[in-house]
Amino acid sequence: MSTRRAVAVLCALFAATLPAQQTIPHLQKNGQATQLFVDSKPYLMLAGELHNSSSSSLDYMKPTWPALSALGLNTVLTPVSWELVEPTEGHYDFTLVDGLLAQARAQHMHIVFLWLAAWKNGLSGYPPAWVKSDLKRFPRAVLASAPDTDDVVPAHLTNLLSTLSPALVQADSRAFHALMEHLRAVDGDAHTVLMMQVENEVGVLGDSRDHSALANRAFAAQVPAELTQYLAAHRDTLSSELRALWLQNGAKTQGTWTEVFGDTTRTDEIFMAWNYARYIQQVAAAGKSAYPIPMFVNCWLGSSNPPGDYPSGGPLTRVLDIWRAAGSALDFYTPDLYSNDFEGWATRYHQPNNPLFLAETSAGPVAAANVFYAFGEQAALGFSPFGIDAGTHGEPPRPTDPALKGREELSESYHAIQSLLPQLIAAQASGNVRGFLLSKSHPAVDLVLHGLTLHVSLDDLFGNRAESGFGLIIQEGPQEGPASFLGVGKGFHVSFTPRDAYAPPVGIASIVEGSFKDGTWIPGRHLNGDENDQGNYWRFDQYGLHTERVTLYSAH
Ligand code: DGJ
Repeated sequence: MSTRRAVAVLCALFAATLPAQQTIPHLQKNGQATQLFVDSKPYLMLAGELHNSSSSSLDYMKPTWPALSALGLNTVLTPVSWELVEPTEGHYDFTLVDGLLAQARAQHMHIVFLWLAAWKNGLSGYPPAWVKSDLKRFPRAVLASAPDTDDVVPAHLTNLLSTLSPALVQADSRAFHALMEHLRAVDGDAHTVLMMQVENEVGVLGDSRDHSALANRAFAAQVPAELTQYLAAHRDTLSSELRALWLQNGAKTQGTWTEVFGDTTRTDEIFMAWNYARYIQQVAAAGKSAYPIPMFVNCWLGSSNPPGDYPSGGPLTRVLDIWRAAGSALDFYTPDLYSNDFEGWATRYHQPNNPLFLAETSAGPVAAANVFYAFGEQAALGFSPFGIDAGTHGEPPRPTDPALKGREELSESYHAIQSLLPQLIAAQASGNVRGFLLSKSHPAVDLVLHGLTLHVSLDDLFGNRAESGFGLIIQEGPQEGPASFLGVGKGFHVSFTPRDAYAPPVGIASIVEGSFKDGTWIPGRHLNGDENDQGNYWRFDQYGLHTERVTLYSAH
């Protein structure tokens, strides 16, 4: 039986026994945003990803959970690896998974599991030894610099399993299905596990494509009709780069890979994207047939460098259409966002059919700022700096670990966001929230809310410029009546101008700092005089994170 047919049979078999779809974690369009619903309510993940090996030991993890909870996290991203789940073929061991669930629940935390199986960071370190050792059943990819031979053990053995091995996708799918079946049994009611990442940062490293005999045959063959039909059917919405490439080569619906896409390494990347996507869509479908919570794939970002410098075939935005053409089991694709261009990459990945989730992003002080932009401007489902457990297991401090450096700032940001989660979630849905990052090279931004232009700037009345600023602003109340905004952030000044030139001017009626306790606003100081630049600005100083509410008046 083909793998696809096997998956279809499994789907049919398990469909009848699934928990009701709306009660398990799922994505749902809510107004203008797509949100994660947990126990039928929208949920934002204030998250962090553990170092790769931390959760392989429950003892090691003991001090970590309370530390992360105190930091303000509500969700932890952590690996569950094929090698530990199926150490012997066909024999599954979920002791570690169950232990992690118990530890998370004790701290009222949620988990997003990362299924580290055939590939992680472009390589194949995580399959069980019975997979790694069997080169006949589970052939390796071959790089062009080491041409394929008929030898079972090639002279230059890569640490990279080939996507084109039917035995591998079957074995990986079977194990993932077993894991999801187990999660459904032990967590189908509690919903500690919110989503699954399938594999990690896939793609061929060191070459633009696999040059094994298997791969060469597939590359010389016709592009599968499913793919060319998808391109034709989605012609107007394809990513600009893919559309341009396809059109330049005659918008063919038949032909070999080089005939359809041209004879460049971009074609190799598309070929690999198709093969990784087809593989991973099948693994995800097998898992979903047991327990269909949201599933996604993360991307090691690359840009103008040749594919192979970064993992070739991973879900970069220019090949997302290829990934979608290969199946529909994956719900979205996420950028592993370590670039300084946080806004640019977040914007590229936040698409109408791709909600933004930051599964992996830089820790350190930048995270404390970026989280406001992600939730406020890009309606992110969650935000997760990498290596979040640094320093939580009593290990000697590693001062270079970025997660250690920004710990207090991130905690402050997470706690501030935590306290206004209901307002933020509602504003994501209504579209009444904006987020921003300001720096010396980008010192101001104009935002539109409540029919007003909000000029948000690092500069005060006298032209003094803060080093940097960040925050988010939520429009409160209905569109009619005096405008009122809730702001949280640091280091910026806001002035207000009606967009309608004939509308009466507005001014600041009051600014109150405060915080939410269990959803109730607890007011603090009324900010006036020096604290609002004599009535000129809604001001957030650069020394601490503040939550403030401003109410405006309209002059008449
Ligand atoms: C990206 C990977 O996805 C992570 O698992 C980890 O290896 C980090 N890189 C290390 O920076």
